Amino acid sequence: MPLVLLANRAPIRQTPTGWEAALGGLASALLPVLEDRGGAWVAMREPEDGAPLMQPYPEASPTFTVHRVPLEEEEFKDYYNGMSNQVLWPLAHYLVNHVAPERAFRGAYRAVNRRFAEAALAAAAEVSSAPPATSGASGDADPVQFWIQDYHLMLVPELIRQRRPGARIGHFWHIPWPAPEVFRILPSARELLRGMLGADLVGFHTDGDAENFRESARDLVGATVEGHDVLWEGRRVRAERHPIGIDVEKFEAFGHDAHIAQEADTFRREIFADHIVLGIDRLDYTKGLLLRLEAFERFLESYPEMHGHVAMFQIATPSRTGIPAYAQLKRKVEQAVGRINGRFAEGAWTPIHYRYRAYTQQELAALYRAADVALVTPLRDGMNLVAHEFGAISGAAMDDGAQPGVLILSELAGASDYLDGAVCVNPYDTDGLARVLRAAIDLPLAEKRRRLSLVREAVRGLDVHAWAARFLDRLGESQPVASSQ
Ligand code: G6P
Repeated sequence: MPLVLLANRAPIRQTPTGWEAALGGLASALLPVLEDRGGAWVAMREPEDGAPLMQPYPEASPTFTVHRVPLEEEEFKDYYNGMSNQVLWPLAHYLVNHVAPERAFRGAYRAVNRRFAEAALAAAAEVSSAPPATSGASGDADPVQFWIQDYHLMLVPELIRQRRPGARIGHFWHIPWPAPEVFRILPSARELLRGMLGADLVGFHTDGDAENFRESARDLVGATVEGHDVLWEGRRVRAERHPIGIDVEKFEAFGHDAHIAQEADTFRREIFADHIVLGIDRLDYTKGLLLRLEAFERFLESYPEMHGHVAMFQIATPSRTGIPAYAQLKRKVEQAVGRINGRFAEGAWTPIHYRYRAYTQQELAALYRAADVALVTPLRDGMNLVAHEFGAISGAAMDDGAQPGVLILSELAGASDYLDGAVCVNPYDTDGLARVLRAAIDLPLAEKRRRLSLVREAVRGLDVHAWAARFLDRLGESQPVASSQ
């Protein structure tokens, strides 16, 4: 059965030698599925981007098509920078002070969602020779499945449902779903919910997120909740946990790679410290960077014996640079790094090494391998795959005789529901984080091993290919017909 995928970002990127799969788990998990089943991937095209609007892929022997929805400058600002990333993003992460008024952005968000839906419907018409079922109640199976990704496209399920009532429509929500009392802050909360309830299956990373969604549907639009299902307009919408993971085989291979091991050794020599504490994040206020830096400052104040022995290496990848809050955060992080280094650096030892740029996956793999401790302390996170990547690489390297790393993980990240073996912290508790870091450095080797093995087992259990297969199987099981409502 062909698949039409919709995501804000395209799954392929242009390199000097041609087009290839974009980095990131979603593309690596879903491209093989599309290549196997045929269909389309619908994504936005940013204003200055000259990428083709319709692009058969892979180039050599195409099996599916990438469709791009071209956005004008204003539209991009309002739909992407505005509604998606200054309203929905901070709200879902409970950072209500960051939420901008949605009024100016709503129109563009609706219009872009509509264009995504139109593009998906056109793509579906191309790939399915059989005509779509005209009525959901007929029980005829629509020959195409639709799978929508994330918070950029909340209205799309309903828009597709109106035109292909018998279609199987899935939506995966990659970020937290807040408590109904927080979600209802949005003036368009009901419209957005009704949009998503056009789906048959809505997936989340955790039970808590799925429950918040069901309760939002019950409290805000009056839907009936029955177990994990939401009964809505004569249909049954399953809202359940489908935790994502990483491409485990690929990341474990990085952990065993001799060249990467060498790079890790070189890096350790250059850093000039006995213990390396690693942070890898997009430069985003949800990632808890400022509080993490404060906690490290507290650590240096409280444990002077650690001076000269511990260094933090923090990568902040540029992200959403058109949004003022991100530019402000960049300045504040730079100030904090400057303040802490100015206060504590001695001789050849620098307490914090800070890099503001994107790294390749191989470069990151060497850092993961070299790290003694990974600090993953978001203020909220849907899942957080940095934690998974560290577990896979450090775990594989441990098999080859490398020192096991310790994962310090925010209890407010979805990953903390799964990665037993991580040391969990509250990212707002800077004193607690300083103490936990001190303890992590001194953990006995056997305990480090035990914990890392647990993390790694959990990471293996959440492989991204299995995630995609499970979600699509579940979508296939959903009833295109009426519920008992
Ligand atoms: C989060 C979202 C993704 C998004 C990614 C990067 O993980 O859930 O949908 O693609 O951030 O953000 P960006 O705005 O660059 O796509």
